[in-house]
Amino acid sequence: MVMEEEVMVNRKVVLKHHLPPDRMPKESDMELVATDTVRLRVPSGSMAVLVKNLYLSCDPYMRSRMTKHDEPSYVPDFVPGTAGITVHGLSGYHDTYRFGSSRFSITGYREWQPTLRWLLSIDRRSSALSVMRRIFDIKLIRIKTSEGQVPTSRKEGSFTSNSTNTLCMPGLTAYAGFYEICSPKKGEHVFISAASGAVGQLVGQFAKLMGCYVVGSAGSDEKVNLLKNKLGFHEAFNYKKEPDLNKALKRCFPEGIDIYFENVGGAMLDAVLANMRLNGRIAVCGMISQYNLGKHDGVHNLLALIAKCIRMQGFLVSNYYKCYREFEEKVVRYMKEGKIVYIEDIAEGLENAPSALTGLFAGRNVGKQLIVVARE
Ligand SMILES: NC(=O)c1ccc[n+]([C@@H]2O[C@H](COP(=O)([O-])OP(=O)(O)OC[C@H]3O[C@@H](n4cnc5c(N)ncnc54)[C@H](OP(=O)(O)O)[C@@H]3O)[C@@H](O)[C@H]2O)c1
Repeated sequence: MVMEEEVMVNRKVVLKHHLPPDRMPKESDMELVATDTVRLRVPSGSMAVLVKNLYLSCDPYMRSRMTKHDEPSYVPDFVPGTAGITVHGLSGYHDTYRFGSSRFSITGYREWQPTLRWLLSIDRRSSALSVMRRIFDIKLIRIKTSEGQVPTSRKEGSFTSNSTNTLCMPGLTAYAGFYEICSPKKGEHVFISAASGAVGQLVGQFAKLMGCYVVGSAGSDEKVNLLKNKLGFHEAFNYKKEPDLNKALKRCFPEGIDIYFENVGGAMLDAVLANMRLNGRIAVCGMISQYNLGKHDGVHNLLALIAKCIRMQGFLVSNYYKCYREFEEKVVRYMKEGKIVYIEDIAEGLENAPSALTGLFAGRNVGKQLIVVARE
């Protein structure tokens, strides 16, 4: 129980300056600041809520937001010094001294969401959820499912970061990219790059459940071991140890690839194009190998798209929120049946956010990278 007048320091991580497009982000590009305070008291009868962040996400797309773009990007650039970095997080709602349910939201790298003053003026007939949606463009996705609570390691009624991530942004990305873009069929040959990551690990498991032959690449032997022995991939290889990616793919796919779930771009994409089968599909989810380059790598094997009648399509998860219901039903069923596992890498404390975020681009994360700010 929080004391009525309690004022808390609200620590947050801010970007110190915009980054040039051609280098990796460094921890020193960000800093933890503790200049704001929040008053935890919510006036009696008010519809105001104060959000307490529990788990924060690290996502590769955040790199693009650290650079100032002349042409607007699909997500706005961060403003150095003024705002915590916006991410997806699992948050508790502090509502007149009681914590309500945990929810997924778009929030910032901060302990408390400093939206209290705005929320105090909100029409009290509005629900907190619709208020947040309308005023702050915070998208909330229902975690409690129509089929009841998903399995968690915590008591009924609360949520682990694990179930949240499986059922939220990375999960929906994997689902939409695989089922909607790749049009998979039983028995097809599927290749996934960055396969042990937040998105890739789920794509591989969806493909396995569909009866496909599944191969993944990752950047360490530890990750390759996880792919084969924990996530159920048929085959996996450490791309950093392969002198010739084309040969590695030929070894794993002597009959070629039907579906490529693209997470990395660059040399891997070229090698995959050379190994695609007739009528293959490529879902372009991300190209992380290009995110810290000023001049992007060229792709040389694009003629394969014509000769092999390949469909290559990019997508944004934000265009697939309409699939959320069917995604939720299917994935909750898989989770209840124990058919899906999810690997997370949890950094302790907001102060470790810069290191966790930069680690994505060095491949330090094993599974979905999260930061735990508070557990309750
Ligand atoms: N389209 C969408 O709506 C959408 C939504 C979410 C994510 N994405 C994209 O999906 C991809 C995966 O995202 P995620 O959240 O699942 O991240 P993640 O895989 O959990 O983390 C990033 C991983 O990328 C790999 N990597 C980093 N630098 C690399 C490089 N230069 N070459 C090859 N691999 C590199 C590393 O794994 P290794 O150890 O294997 O190298 C690293 O662990 C990213 O490209 C991201 O931008 C797209």
